[in-house]
Amino acid sequence: MEKYISVKELEETALTLLPIGARDYYKSGATDEQTLAENKKAFQRLRIRPKCLVGVNNCCLRTRVLGNEVSMPIGISPTAMQRMAHPEGEIANARAAAAENTIFTLSTIATSSIEEIAEAVPQGIKWFQLYIYKNKEVTKNLVLRAEKAGFKAIALTVDTPLFGLRRADIRNKFTLPQHLRLANFDGHLSTKIRGANDGSGLNEYVHNLFDKSLTWDEVKWLKSITKLPIIAKGVLRGDDAVKAVEAGCSAILVSNHGARQLDGVPATIEALPEIVEAVKKYNVEVYLDGGVSTGTDVYKALALGAKMVFVGRPALWGLTIGGQAGVQRMLNILRTELEYALQIAGTPTIADITRDMVRHESAYSK
Ligand code: FNR
Repeated sequence: MEKYISVKELEETALTLLPIGARDYYKSGATDEQTLAENKKAFQRLRIRPKCLVGVNNCCLRTRVLGNEVSMPIGISPTAMQRMAHPEGEIANARAAAAENTIFTLSTIATSSIEEIAEAVPQGIKWFQLYIYKNKEVTKNLVLRAEKAGFKAIALTVDTPLFGLRRADIRNKFTLPQHLRLANFDGHLSTKIRGANDGSGLNEYVHNLFDKSLTWDEVKWLKSITKLPIIAKGVLRGDDAVKAVEAGCSAILVSNHGARQLDGVPATIEALPEIVEAVKKYNVEVYLDGGVSTGTDVYKALALGAKMVFVGRPALWGLTIGGQAGVQRMLNILRTELEYALQIAGTPTIADITRDMVRHESAYSK
């Protein structure tokens, strides 16, 4: 794995290894993929303003997230169906996160079950990403199983009344390969994803089964069935962040679902300051995912107020290339890049990274 020294290299290699259906499913964004590109470009429009000669001997990336200590502020976002990337799928990804002492988030529509992950990484910090099904018993069952299995939080995805239009999946008539199933379910819910009549099998699955009528009241319902903290995943507006907190969420994950839902929405790093500002008077944590591929991206998100940053696709690229070892390689590339950034910027600990460390490029072109 040592020959890969950037996340970009992992991505380029993984894309040559994956079968077309999985490759396109993993990499695509919604419609014209403008936001997909912006998620990355917006990071490049920010400049880091280093402080000189501050003494950086004691560099430390450790932080606490929802009360748990992690070795660095970089964790794994939920991505569906990871056994298309590697036979050990989510298990390898979770093992990598646990080995690196950080958070792994399991998707509802994973190809490894809640219980398999718990058995593979009993000590690892695990979060469960929740989609709410029309059948509330199905949803409740998922939440109770995650709580019983030792997961530490529920990341409720709030940006998905239906799945975005991903043209490659429509063209490929995306479907889960025959040898795989959605492991959190029995019976038809585990295989129905293969039943597409036309276009993407995933979109048809979501359309048939997910509850489109959801409102913030569902957070209250969730809180009535679980003691786990709830993270609102997919918020892009300050007023929505406030609604999430008022409904009882403990944290906000600023996310545009990897630019897979609605094209034309802001890059997540652009949306972050509005949300940090909107919830600053509450005692909640704010995280970010979307387009993070370098340690300096992570640094910029921390400077703008994120407590933790998550990556989705980079873990898939590592997984494709080397299973657990590939994901660990990806995490260690980001860890090293972030360590360098902290020291050279003159902010040796996470707490030192204040808002003034980053400025928009436009400030330099006047
Ligand atoms: C996702 N994402 C996602 N989110 C979620 O809440 N539940 C899910 O099942 C999935 N599945 C999924 C599959 C794939 C292939 C991708 C790329 C993304 C969104 C994910 O959690 C996260 O928000 C993004 O992946 C972050 O962007 P990057 O890091 O991929 O750029």
